[in-house]
Amino acid sequence: MKSLMMQGVQILATGSAVPDSSLSNEEISQIVETSNNWIITRTGIEERRVLTGANKSIIDLAVLASLKALDKISMNASEIDLIILATSSPNDLFGSASQIQAQIKAYNAVAFDLTAACSGFVLAMITASQFLQTGTYKKVLVVGADVLSKWVDWSDRSTCILFGDGAGAMILQACVKLDNQILGFQLNTNGNYCNHLSLSYKEDSYSHSILNIYQGSFKYISMNGKDVYKFAVSQVPLSILKCLNSVNIAIDDIDWLLLHQANHRILKAVADKLSIDNKKIIMNVNKYGNTSAASIPLAFDEALKEGKILQNDLIVISGFGAGLTWGTILVHWKS
Ligand code: COA
Repeated sequence: MKSLMMQGVQILATGSAVPDSSLSNEEISQIVETSNNWIITRTGIEERRVLTGANKSIIDLAVLASLKALDKISMNASEIDLIILATSSPNDLFGSASQIQAQIKAYNAVAFDLTAACSGFVLAMITASQFLQTGTYKKVLVVGADVLSKWVDWSDRSTCILFGDGAGAMILQACVKLDNQILGFQLNTNGNYCNHLSLSYKEDSYSHSILNIYQGSFKYISMNGKDVYKFAVSQVPLSILKCLNSVNIAIDDIDWLLLHQANHRILKAVADKLSIDNKKIIMNVNKYGNTSAASIPLAFDEALKEGKILQNDLIVISGFGAGLTWGTILVHWKS
């Protein structure tokens, strides 16, 4: 996929936030019939963070992650032109991004939500980069935030063990082409398999007596784990190869593999299929579980804090999940 690139895109800063409250596998095994050993062996997850308490939402985490990113570069929020919030668990179905805009006081920014589950951050980053490359906007805040603890069925052991809450933010800026950091991308959707992983609207069985209008509500994540696993392991490597081929970069040139943190077996299987050394995998799924749209910016932010990612490193970022959606971005790190 060729894009009209008049300008480059720079990553200026990242930030992340997770709730204070952690939930261990042992604690989950008191709620459903499971064990620490089963969860670790199948997923690599040891614990996850959950947003507890009343009236808390993705906004609390998203605002904190955004302020941390702004603080890192001492940027005034009024400089931001656009905010894109990737989330599947908004606190307002009409859109939650405007609440971030108001709370961080980014009053010059347009703000909207983007829903693509665990691929949300990848799609939001590429959407942001299109606005920057065409010269429409100069500075964009991209946020990935999800609180799937509010949407899992806590009596379903096949899904409730997987997810955690969190938020990650990234500030992108237009720059001269020479300084461009987003070297390429590759995106995909296959709606035929949307039922593999969904959080669907469920209609009540009765309608309004006069209007014949049926109403309902969204209810619980449902997942066909085996099919999602097969999809990720077969399709993500292909997306990565297509992305790298499009910009003539070889697998061996890659310094880091930053995949959506779904589970450690998927991350390792994708790396093995591409013959990428496991040491190059950025992984924090053990601490946070699958935080959906937050997982990539959260892992990116942590890897930067830990000093893993160095000047001139090439990072392959891939998101995958419900939709089904999946895609890859190639980043050239320049601090
Ligand atoms: N604890 C203990 N046993 C469990 C369990 C749990 N939390 N969840 C399921 N089981 C049981 C099942 O009931 C089944 O028992 P049975 O053989 O008596 O029927 C057995 O374990 C095997 O279940 P299965 O679903 O085949 O396990 P699996 O090896 O496929 O692992 C997942 C399940 C969910 C870990 C795995 O399919 C997976 O990782 N899929 C991808 C999910 C994902 O990442 N989704 C998000 C993508 S964005």
